[in-house]
This record gives sequence, C-alpha cells and structure tokens, in this order.
Amino acid sequence: MAFPLSCTFICFSLIVGHSFLPFSGFRVVHGYPACSNTCGGLPIAYPFGTSKGCGNKIFQSYTKCSKGKFYLTTETGQYEVNHIDYQLKSLIVLDKKMSTCSAMRRTTGMGFGLQGGTPFTLQGPHFVLLACIDPASPVQTSPSSICDAQASQLCRNLYSYCPTITKLGLSVNSAIKSCCSLKSNFLQNAPLEIEPKKYGCLSYTSIYRFGPGQGFSSNVQDPNTWSYGVPLLYTVDQVPESCSRCEASHGSCAFDDNSNLICVCSAKLNTSSTCPAGIILCPPLL
Ligand SMILES: *[C@@H]1O[C@H](CO)[C@@H](O)[C@H](O)[C@H]1NC(C)=O
Repeated sequence: MAFPLSCTFICFSLIVGHSFLPFSGFRVVHGYPACSNTCGGLPIAYPFGTSKGCGNKIFQSYTKCSKGKFYLTTETGQYEVNHIDYQLKSLIVLDKKMSTCSAMRRTTGMGFGLQGGTPFTLQGPHFVLLACIDPASPVQTSPSSICDAQASQLCRNLYSYCPTITKLGLSVNSAIKSCCSLKSNFLQNAPLEIEPKKYGCLSYTSIYRFGPGQGFSSNVQDPNTWSYGVPLLYTVDQVPESCSRCEASHGSCAFDDNSNLICVCSAKLNTSSTCPAGIILCPPLL
C-alpha cells in the first residue's frame, strides 16, 4: 500500500521523536483499516470494497484486495483489475489466458466468462477470436452471424504484425478467414462465455485501446501499441448519499446487517457518518 508523502513524513517523525506531532493537530492511528480506499495504487470506492463487509453487499463476493492487487472473480477464474472508472462505471481486467501481440498463447479450458445474474457485463466491442481453424467453426461456416466484417482490419493487423502468431500454428500473413472480431451485440447478451474452443478457435484477445490515443483510428495499424484487457461495465444503484459523504471525508463505506452505513475511517475508528478531519493512518507499528 502506498502512503502519501506527508503521511510517511509524519509517521517517521512520530517514530523518531514525537517531536512535532503534539503541536500539529493531527491524530495518528496505526494499523490497516478493515476497509481501505485504495488497493495497491488503485482507488477503491463504492460499490467496491477491499475485503468482506466493505462496499456494496452485492459486489462483495466478486472482488477482493490481496497483497496490493485488486481481483475480480467470475465463474472462469480470478482476474486482476487494472483500472476502474467510477464515472463510466467500467473496469478493465487482465486475463492471463488471453493472447496479446507480443505473446500469442493457446487458450486451454474456458476463456473468459460471466455467469448470469452478476452485476457485470462485457463492454466489448473488440473481442477477437484467433486461429479458428476447425472447418466446422461458425467463424468459417457462417461468419456473418457472429463476426463484425467492419472490424476485419483488426484481424489483418494481428495476423500481419504479430510474429508470435506462429505459436497458434499460423504463418505471418495467413488468410484472416480464421479470425473473427465478435459483433458487439453478440457480446452484450449475458450470461456469456468467450470460450474459444466452443467456436473452433485456439485463442482470443481483447483490445480496449488502440495506441496512446483513445479512438479507434490513431494507432490501429500497429497491434504492438494496443492495450489488451477485458473491459467490463458494472451496474449499481446510485451511490447512497451517506456513502458519498463518508468517502468525501476519506473514509470507506461498509454496511451492517441492517444496511446502515458504517464509515470506516481507520483501523481503530468507525463512525456512522463521516470521518473527523486530521486523522492520519500509518502502517502498523511492529
Ligand atoms: C469497522 O467496521 C468494519 C466493517 O464492518 C469492521 O470489520 C471493523 O472491525 C470495524 N472496526 C472497528 C474498530 O470497530
């Protein structure tokens, strides 16, 4: 967990001599709170929580913070979350079974899946099935049913500019009829599993950004500059106002069995509203 400089400084002065703290007006509390507003470098806010009892109850069974990494669990595995956008209600998870331009790999077993009834949906739309070499694959027999013809440029670029495509038994510049960028309406129907094998394919990839720019156009030519990961949307009711106030005072929201707010301020302090100003959390004393 990263502590801001001021905290490091204040905690250090506390250990070194209690010299200036009595006059600073800050109260220093040692230990990690039950619920934290960061996990590693990732800001964690409602509806997410860093451990059981934190954040929104519905989200508790899907996410956790472990050793400075935030994870999403779905029916197909546990995935590291590398970005959360609380405004857009979206997150990006890393899937180690997925191919990227620099590392093509055969997907064994399940790909990425979300069971029905989860508060998550795939955002798509750049999910690409690779090396669908089975002649019975729908990618070969009826591509128009699942593949987006307009996005075939993605396939062409992956097959042309990623030498590791040979790991999937293809040669560089292979015909792209064994590749399929899934249609976005196909992806939006949960429950959903991207199981390459089911479609007669050896692997898959998911691109959430092309090059440093945001748009589709900027660096669409070079798959080495793309960002790979699975973009998801989450659905949640409005953040309760009491929780917004707690978070604004640097607390983390948790809810008791009667759905009453617990505002977790530090390892030693919970309130039912907001956190008092001037609390500084320092790592546990040895
Ligand atoms: C604060 O609330 C959290 C979440 O319910 C709980 O795990 C923790 O033990 C509480 N801490 C204190 C000091 O009461």
